[in-house]
Amino acid sequence: MIKKTLVALSAIALSAGTLSACGSDGGGDAAADGGGSDDTITMGFAQVGAESGWRTANTKNIQEAAAEAGVDLKFSDAQQKQENQIKAIRSYIQQKVDVIAFSPVVETGWDAVLQEAKRANIPVILTDRAVDSEDTSLYKTFLGSDFVEEGKKAGQWLVDNAADADVDGDGDINVVELQGTTGAAPAIDRKEGFEEVIAANGEISISQSQTGDFTRDGGKQVMEAFLQSEDDIDVVFAHNDDMGLGAIEAIEAAGLVPGEDVKIITIDAVKDGMTALSEGKINFIVECSPLLGPQLMDLAEKVLAGEEVPTRVVTEETTFTPEQAAEVLAERQY
Ligand code: AHR
Repeated sequence: MIKKTLVALSAIALSAGTLSACGSDGGGDAAADGGGSDDTITMGFAQVGAESGWRTANTKNIQEAAAEAGVDLKFSDAQQKQENQIKAIRSYIQQKVDVIAFSPVVETGWDAVLQEAKRANIPVILTDRAVDSEDTSLYKTFLGSDFVEEGKKAGQWLVDNAADADVDGDGDINVVELQGTTGAAPAIDRKEGFEEVIAANGEISISQSQTGDFTRDGGKQVMEAFLQSEDDIDVVFAHNDDMGLGAIEAIEAAGLVPGEDVKIITIDAVKDGMTALSEGKINFIVECSPLLGPQLMDLAEKVLAGEEVPTRVVTEETTFTPEQAAEVLAERQY
């Protein structure tokens, strides 16, 4: 069980310094006194929602890791609304939790609530997604994937397989893009990385790009509209598996064969996506790991003990072809 290290004198001294600098009355050093009666770590976690298979796996992993580490986890689901996440964070501040972790639904608009957490001397750890703030003192560290790199890997596969991806053989590779939630770090960064790499091949271009909000339904609806508005789509780049799976439904409903008549590239590598990949309905998946729980608990313990932690912890990830998916599917955890 993780216990707060009350003997970490340097951490306590630092906390007190921050409090007086902020003009606090000194009554609420949550990081040092834990706001509770024993020394078990209390973590408030403000989750984005349950929009995708990835998110469900991430929530389960965080809950299991907290139980394993003996962390008292207060969990909230914001249903993909920033105002709900802000409310949850304010409630954790009021409850004087020891540490707050959250995965910001969008990148901007967090400074005010993070300043409140800082004034209350409650450290914040970003997991999965980053915030776009100039004040990096508002959080201790950011644990999660390199989304730009994920977009680059998706784009590189397309550049490397361009001849095969020109499905209608007209010399142009027409890509449609299913973007994640508007304003979310993975949507912004994956788009950026993908576009940067495909720019190397003048035959590849994106004809349409719209958000499917990282959901299967959203992916299906947007893909239906894409298919109605043009008939020479060669490739779908979906920012996650769920939207790619929704696109497969729309492609099949239009009488086309996903993976053959339209090539599909997605990101995540959750079990449903990997199954579709092993069946040849998806052509390539870039992995984004949701298994952040154990590292998050470890970082929380270190931060509360006053230990130095890296400001950025990047998750290790790979990519999968249909053959590679078939090999690992049986033991895929999520
Ligand atoms: O932030 C990670 C992304 O959010 C995943 O790729 C997606 O499936 C989820 O909803």
